[in-house]
Amino acid sequence: MTILVTGGAGFIGSHFVRRMINQDTRVVVLDKLTYAGNLENLRDITGDSRRSKQFTFYKGDICNQELVEYILSTEGIDAIINFAAETHVDRSILSASAFIDTDMKGVLVLLEASRRYAIKKFIQISTDEVYGTAYHSAFKETDALNPGNPYSASKAGGDRLAYSYWITYKLPIIITRASNNYGPYQYPEKFIPLFITNAIEDRKLPLYGDGRQIRDWIHVEDHCAGIDFLLTHGKDGEVYNIGGGNERCNIDTASLILDELKKPGTLIEHVKDREGHDRRYALDCTKLKALGYRPKIEFETGLRDTIQWYRDNENWWKRIKNSEFMGYYHKQYNHRFISPCLQNQ
Ligand code: NAD
Ligand code: TYD
Repeated sequence: MTILVTGGAGFIGSHFVRRMINQDTRVVVLDKLTYAGNLENLRDITGDSRRSKQFTFYKGDICNQELVEYILSTEGIDAIINFAAETHVDRSILSASAFIDTDMKGVLVLLEASRRYAIKKFIQISTDEVYGTAYHSAFKETDALNPGNPYSASKAGGDRLAYSYWITYKLPIIITRASNNYGPYQYPEKFIPLFITNAIEDRKLPLYGDGRQIRDWIHVEDHCAGIDFLLTHGKDGEVYNIGGGNERCNIDTASLILDELKKPGTLIEHVKDREGHDRRYALDCTKLKALGYRPKIEFETGLRDTIQWYRDNENWWKRIKNSEFMGYYHKQYNHRFISPCLQNQ
């Protein structure tokens, strides 16, 4: 089996590539290498003579129809798993157009090419954020979508476009909606790696609003295992929630991080809230459990291991934090902190 993994140099995509290569699948990656894409995430594969034989990398955009068609016509692709996306809510609030391009138009290009080349399975990696805030019970796959920020709205567009290709053309698609991922190689703009790396550097942790927002955390390995499971057990045309079953308040997660690193609680600074901040994400995963899959990694253990990984891999995140990231960080946070986040804050 040969699979095309788009966005395979990003956080979740790189874990999925590793998992599939370790199972002797041939993997072709198409990745634009945006600020979030990083070939270092795959160094253990590219630097290994045996495993690198199963791996082909194309640097390029999923919006590039010619390139996508070239890959499908020459690489003998059986299945596409589309991870490629602009993924950070805060960046989408600053500027949404790249989100529309990749998360919607890019999905269209992949779907059209899949139809033309009769791809046997297309998994669209969507997100729990398409449902919007869970005010009451956890969301089921049949609940209405109410995305509340440009990121989740563009993901909802890609999600429904994929579904429409099943209804209209019977393209064998599956849609997954996972909850918040955490684990090694996550770009340090996201909550958990930002707070871990800031705490290691004795910088302030910018907690939005009252910090009582709830996220359901899933370890990235559990998420990838769920997608892998659906590749063989999922039914075409269906949507599957993949939740971790670990709903936690942000302030509690921030405190866990500080405790583990033996840093003081005074590093937490409550800052101006995110505009349109979804208060709670929560997924009902009965449908996936009934098929036989459930996540294994307990949150406190997974978080402890993740903190250790960031301690052991300072070169990886310091290279990121010392480049593009700092410009974004100042733009995003300077006006939020009581005193501007220059130097050591
Ligand atoms: P990420 O930002 O770490 O990686 C995204 C990858 O996509 C990068 O390698 C980037 O270079 C690539 N990319 C971006 N635009 C591209 C384009 N136009 N063409 C080709 N490649 C492009 O993201 P992630 O956290 O690994 O998320 C992967 C997928 O999982 C996304 O679709 C996201 O919406 C979804 N998801 C993420 C989470 C989460 O908590 N991180 C939860 C649920 C779903
Ligand atoms: P994030 O990792 O951006 O994921 P999501 O897509 O769920 O918003 O944020 C997770 C939670 O952490 C969310 O409630 C926003 C909050 N948060 C902060 O309090 N401070 C921060 O600096 C960031 C990035 C997020």
